[in-house]
Amino acid sequence: MYTNVWYTAAFSKDVADVPRHVKMLDRDFVLFRDAGGAAHCLSNVCCHRGAPLDQGGCQTDGTLACCQHGWRFAGDGRCTMMPAAVYGSTIPKAARVDSYPVEERYGMVWVLLGDDPEAAAPIPDVPEFDAEGWRWIEYEEVWDANYHWAKFSNLDYVHLPVVHGQTWNGSIRPPAHKVEYLDETSIGTGICVKTKRPKGLWSRLRPAETEVQSRMKFYLSGFTIKVDVEIGGARTGMRFVVLDMSTPIDEHTTAMRFLFGRNFMPHKWVDKGTLKRNLKNVREDQKIAEAQLPKVPKLPDSRTLMTDPEDEMVREYWSIMTKLREKGWQIDQSALQQAEKSGGYHVIPSPSRRTDPDAWVYKPVPRINPDAVAQAAE
Ligand code: FES
Ligand SMILES: [Fe+2]
Repeated sequence: MYTNVWYTAAFSKDVADVPRHVKMLDRDFVLFRDAGGAAHCLSNVCCHRGAPLDQGGCQTDGTLACCQHGWRFAGDGRCTMMPAAVYGSTIPKAARVDSYPVEERYGMVWVLLGDDPEAAAPIPDVPEFDAEGWRWIEYEEVWDANYHWAKFSNLDYVHLPVVHGQTWNGSIRPPAHKVEYLDETSIGTGICVKTKRPKGLWSRLRPAETEVQSRMKFYLSGFTIKVDVEIGGARTGMRFVVLDMSTPIDEHTTAMRFLFGRNFMPHKWVDKGTLKRNLKNVREDQKIAEAQLPKVPKLPDSRTLMTDPEDEMVREYWSIMTKLREKGWQIDQSALQQAEKSGGYHVIPSPSRRTDPDAWVYKPVPRINPDAVAQAAE
């Protein structure tokens, strides 16, 4: 799992002035809104005696009070008040918890889990979300699958006929398609081909023989796959967009968030059928992702089982993961487990740790040293 990545933590509608526990990267966080409505994300472990902050309460001064001794924490993670401290005594510098950058985009709370927001890839740009004429459906669930497997369940065109019964011009072989880098951490590809006519209500969208343009992109931020299908036929402008985002809860469990958007049939009553149609695909992908072995896939050190073009997206996805490791952003899970065997709690380091590294109660999670990886490979 990787630090210095933007992840989706919750839908905005689910974050209020009541603290909400979220597990990400096998660490505990709390989301809450301050008195002005701004969303915040803090490490959930109180720096006093380790009580869970999500069991405390939001205060009218915009802080979050710990459930045990009532220390109050502002959105920036600093303790602003200790009820039992002697009047006039200063609050120690270490009375603070890690606070992470938060952005609200596309109806979701995004959190940068790391200490270097300037170096992190930006949140994907989805201009359709606020564009006129678009209607969006939110959906989330948890998969008992590693996040890499969860991503691979949708990162190629070849699985579509095999898993979902979608053929390409009557064939299971997709047309040739090239993968391109959109920037350092996002890739895209696309095809234009006749596909099966949709069933039911959507069969009205196009005649059977029309070509359909489909684009697929992967953005590191949010581990987001964007599939954009010109469902009414090429150049009709009638589009269906799926955003499929994954946040590792831990190495074996993944929070999946979906946004299904369309710029046709804007009526609410169409939502139910749209969701049902798409959840059938989600279920088919989930079933495979949850059964794949090994439970935690490793970066491939050989490309021999990669084929073109079906594995090109996955190959470049691994290249992006390799870059994260080379930057020293990958959490060293075995070192972390070893360190916590003898007690202690480790947190994802927040940006304040870079500018102000002293006086923190909990140590940061260990990360894989890129120099050691490079030496081992030599
Ligand atoms: S454990 Fe949080 S205030 Fe004491
Ligand atoms: Fe799929």
